[in-house]
Amino acid sequence: MAYDQLIFERSQTGRIGYSLPKSEIKEYPLDDSLKREKTPDLPEVSEFDVIRHFTNVSFKNHGIETGFYPLGSCTMKYNPKIDQDLSGMDAFTGLHPYQPVDTVQGVLEVLYETQKMLAKISGLDTYSLNPYAGAHGELVGLMIIRHYHANRKDFARKKIIVPDSAHGTNPASAATAGFDVVEVASNQDGTVNLNSLKSVLDDSIAGIMLTNPNTIGMFEKDILEIARLVHEAGGLLYYDGANLNPMMGMARPGDMGFDIMHINLHKTFSTPHGGGGPGSGPVGVTRELKPYLPEPVVRKAGNHFFIDQKDDQSIGRISHFYGNVGVVLKAYAFLRTNGKEHLSEIAQYSTLNANYVKESLKDTFKLPIDAHCKHEFVFDGLIDKSTGVTTYDISKRLLDYGIHPPTMYFPLLYKESMMIEPVENESKQTLDHFIKTMKIIAKEAIDDPDLVKHAPHTTPVKRLDEAKAAREPKVKFKDLIA
Ligand SMILES: Cc1ncc(COP(=O)(O)O)c(C=O)c1O
Repeated sequence: MAYDQLIFERSQTGRIGYSLPKSEIKEYPLDDSLKREKTPDLPEVSEFDVIRHFTNVSFKNHGIETGFYPLGSCTMKYNPKIDQDLSGMDAFTGLHPYQPVDTVQGVLEVLYETQKMLAKISGLDTYSLNPYAGAHGELVGLMIIRHYHANRKDFARKKIIVPDSAHGTNPASAATAGFDVVEVASNQDGTVNLNSLKSVLDDSIAGIMLTNPNTIGMFEKDILEIARLVHEAGGLLYYDGANLNPMMGMARPGDMGFDIMHINLHKTFSTPHGGGGPGSGPVGVTRELKPYLPEPVVRKAGNHFFIDQKDDQSIGRISHFYGNVGVVLKAYAFLRTNGKEHLSEIAQYSTLNANYVKESLKDTFKLPIDAHCKHEFVFDGLIDKSTGVTTYDISKRLLDYGIHPPTMYFPLLYKESMMIEPVENESKQTLDHFIKTMKIIAKEAIDDPDLVKHAPHTTPVKRLDEAKAAREPKVKFKDLIA
């Protein structure tokens, strides 16, 4: 079967896949200026051709529905289908943002309740659901930090501290918000080095951005001392809550001393991360910073929900209307269906699963930090590097076994970083299969290194020039055959 053909190559003149019933509506002639000059160049195929073609194409890609996906930090966490169905209900998708508020009380209640639940989970006072992504939330948080200092006429605070292990969006957002980035060195385990921190604290510091657990999955044990030092120096603490799954119901950033944070709903709360789909990065703040939140904010008076957009100190609008409401709806469904008890189970299982995989593989893969981790951890490639097999080779070989590679070469702390996040809802059988496969590949690296070095062998495409593919994408049929 020629399933490797493009749909255009399957085209046969005159073949049709579907015919519409005759329209009962009278035809009206269009003005010639509105008409196409020639018929569109579309494939002429049968219904079977279309369905088989796209079904087979979909299997060429690895996805969460085809196999295990231990991509650290940016992983696909659990995205229940039922939440997708709920957010796609006509009752929600049929709404218009300009409808009078009296006719949209239901969806405003969902937004209001979600703001409250996120505040409870994180220990902050209130939330804006408007930002569209994690990085967008960071930018909003940093704009709030700027407004806060400006409001106090403290214009000298122009610097944001970012640890060298931070996610790349942190320094990028700080620079975009107009701050100078001051990098502080981390300890070997990626936690903040207190002496490095103390050496940069002065009255030019506007704040610090931290992820806790940090990018190698370690809990920042000195967080209370860090908060004390930064506050004492007049700065604010920003929490990057992109991956909140190991914290939920166990520890709250607000209690640790953080003033502002964002949460990636499109990770921890039921929307798939990656692939360029819609996201949502709500920003939470302490009571003191509440007036700076972007507009509009959903509030409640008695039993009535309304949209507030007249806070003089607000940083203003940062999105259309109320952000990505469809993503918030999924988060609401996820929060309500899990409830308080099960949210803390998510934290416990994500931590348990990561530690189980780490402990099972640490005799084969180099573990730079041999300590209890949270939801993810990092290996520095194979222990035995004598055959030259790299993290890249292992990642490609995993594809032959139907497993998505871990995050490669991030964080930058180790030469062969391999960041693994198994997530909370994977079964022990799946984890054992991954562990077994990793050990098989480690053995292959000794017995037949070329097999691993030239992997993948079973995928539709082999090793790609990823930079070229991203910079010079060929997405048109004619470019591909040129
Ligand atoms: C720790 C961390 N911070 C920030 C972000 C940025 O989130 P987004 O991709 O939604 O902009 C990510 C995304 O993966 C992340 O892992």
